[in-house]
Amino acid sequence: MSEPGSPVPPTSPLLSRVHTSAPDTESAIDRSIPEFPAATPIDEDNYFRLHRPPPYLSQISSDVAEFINFHHRVNRKVALVTSGGTTVPLENNTVRFIDNFSAGTRGATSAEYFLEKGYAVIFLHREFSMLPYSRHYSHTTNCFLDYLTESPDGKKVEVDEKFQKEMLVVLKKYRYAQENNLLLMVPFTTVHQYLFTLKLIAQEMSVIGYDAIFYLAAAVSDFFLPSSRIPQHKIQSKEVGGKLVVDLEPVPKFLRRLVDSWAPIAMIVSFKLETDNTILISKARTALKRYNHQLVIGNLLQTRKKQVVFVTAEGERWIKLDPEQIKENVDIESIIVPEIINSHNAWIESRKRMGL
Ligand code: PMT
Repeated sequence: MSEPGSPVPPTSPLLSRVHTSAPDTESAIDRSIPEFPAATPIDEDNYFRLHRPPPYLSQISSDVAEFINFHHRVNRKVALVTSGGTTVPLENNTVRFIDNFSAGTRGATSAEYFLEKGYAVIFLHREFSMLPYSRHYSHTTNCFLDYLTESPDGKKVEVDEKFQKEMLVVLKKYRYAQENNLLLMVPFTTVHQYLFTLKLIAQEMSVIGYDAIFYLAAAVSDFFLPSSRIPQHKIQSKEVGGKLVVDLEPVPKFLRRLVDSWAPIAMIVSFKLETDNTILISKARTALKRYNHQLVIGNLLQTRKKQVVFVTAEGERWIKLDPEQIKENVDIESIIVPEIINSHNAWIESRKRMGL
């Protein structure tokens, strides 16, 4: 949400200028993992029967129901934004887990633009990943201490003069969302918590029908260790002979269940991430056909902050930041989200015309 011409964020002398998580474009590999079939009702039944729901789920259920009813009464549209990576624990008392790269930037940034356009947002996010508004001053890229100075008498902390204007804008938007109950934060950590919570929220959102939009930016794990095979305690290296061989199962592809059964009237937008540009569009098209929803947004790990491709039944269209926009730190989400909102409005109109 950088305003064009706003001051360049400070670079802390304590932060490394090397980004170790930046992908290496040259050596990006083509994953040859086969595409799993979409989950069937039987897969769904098995998964949710064989795994115990997270103990806090009823609390989330009542928070979500209250939030939805609040906005339903005033006919406000609601976006469910999923964000961040999911973990796959290797032990019940988890010391070790498998993770992925997602920092939740896409989700947190997009949530701000949905709010700006008058939507209420349920932000289903990986705990401790980027959050709307606070993302501007958090995590290692934007250390909040670098925005502060000491008061002239050395007795108080103040926001550095050059960031006052920008921070005030962010603060006002944050307060507005908070005071008007526009943003509901729902956390997850594991893939298992994510799936249980996604299903629950989808079902709660069904009361608002086509006024709901699902914006699935989370990077969901493809493989997991079923509860029946998770050891209770920390795996001891001497018990596994110094070598740890992990045998994972594919996570059922629940997107089709979401489209067909959990949220059949809502508009659904999914993301497709690849590292090889030669397969991105075909993979996105396959996802669109397989899951039968409205829009797949394709992106490459290496360029995801600068360009994405919208893939719909009508064809594909790239959205790319130009060099000037890149220089000015324009969020690509400030273009993606308004486009999606236009499609959502058209979707609602078409549903109404069909008498749905
Ligand atoms: O967080 P950032 O660092 O900003 O990165 C953003 C992003 C690259 C993670 C994001 O833009 C993105 O591409 N997210 C989707 C990653 C992906 O490829 O997902 P997938 O192919 O595993 O799944 C496709 C869609 O189905 C996703 O929208 C996912 O949320 C959803 N899904 C996947 C598996 C599953 N079991 N259930 C799901 O709902």
